[in-house]
Amino acid sequence: MKKSFQILLPFDRHGHLREVNTLMPEVLIHSLKSFWGMVVMPNTAIPITDYESAVRYREEIKTLSNKYGFGGNFLPVMTGYLTDNTNPENVKSGFLNGAWKAMKLYPHGATTNSDKGVTKLEKIFPVLEMMQKIGMSVLVHPETDVSRSDIPFMDRERVYTEESLFLIHERFPELTISVEHISTREAMEFVEWCPDNVVGTITPQHIMYTHDALFHNGVPPFKPGLYPENMCLPILKTQDDVNYIRNAIMHGERRYKFGAGTDTAPHTQTAKKENCSRCGVFNASHAVEFYTMIFDQEGMLNDEKGIQTFQNFMSVNNLWIYGIKEFPTEMITLVKEDQQIPEIYPGDIRPFKAGQTIPWTMKRELIK
Ligand code: NCD
Ligand code: ZN
Repeated sequence: MKKSFQILLPFDRHGHLREVNTLMPEVLIHSLKSFWGMVVMPNTAIPITDYESAVRYREEIKTLSNKYGFGGNFLPVMTGYLTDNTNPENVKSGFLNGAWKAMKLYPHGATTNSDKGVTKLEKIFPVLEMMQKIGMSVLVHPETDVSRSDIPFMDRERVYTEESLFLIHERFPELTISVEHISTREAMEFVEWCPDNVVGTITPQHIMYTHDALFHNGVPPFKPGLYPENMCLPILKTQDDVNYIRNAIMHGERRYKFGAGTDTAPHTQTAKKENCSRCGVFNASHAVEFYTMIFDQEGMLNDEKGIQTFQNFMSVNNLWIYGIKEFPTEMITLVKEDQQIPEIYPGDIRPFKAGQTIPWTMKRELIK
């Protein structure tokens, strides 16, 4: 078994950086260290609903990235937040002038900061029609909206897949769709079944743990309790779902359709401990190592072919959907070396797998 190997510097296809006056100064540094860019989600406290706000948000990220010494070495790929009242002209202008690259579809009330999300798919048909025409991607949070609160959390992605993903694709067959943070066999099968303009992103948490990790923290010793640090949306699913996703991204014929999107979603520990604990896990600090662990567990890192598949998943697959044609040639090294994840980071942020020891460590020239 290899003790170390190299891959191209990864790209995060899905992350939350929050606001410059809240958690961004604390969390951005972690993404800067491990990724050359990120698809930045628009569900900020005041959502990014017009391209002018996306430009301002990008400037804030760039200013901070410069301050941390990363300068032009980090590409924030901006996205917009679709609402019932999204103006197609603004979406189009922002796409054509390079302000943003994709729009995010949050079903109303389905997740954190989605109160202004779309109440009925039909309301955004004109925007989707226009996006299809100009070649702009839509990124979908694939869960049912708050009007369907009777649907159990465990089923929300399956129901949304059946009712809405098929509908969007059938109605707009040429539209580029990315199904975000896939957690079910059904959503995977949907992407695999569709032509190549439909792709998906995968988080580490959804392929590392099942919903049981909410009640015993995922690793021995299994002490029953409630572990809000593992609470995210979509909720962690079953072992069958985990197995299916792992197999599809590593061995599936359509594995080139899936790429790493961490869904790093920081909340303060105080907010996580409130009565209504916030949904989202903060994983940016060790996301690359988490994915490495998962591919290693499946024996993928023992030969060049497996490492190539891992590299494609982390750093290559699907970047074209954000208009990215070239990527940096910088390599990172993954070393089979234990490290302990901190209990808490500045900003009162408890990371995913806090306090645990993991068997891989990422090394990057830029960061000694
Ligand atoms: C995300 C957040 O906190 O912004 N939360 C989460 O549980 N994943 C929103 C999202 O991606 O659904
Ligand atoms: Zn997210």
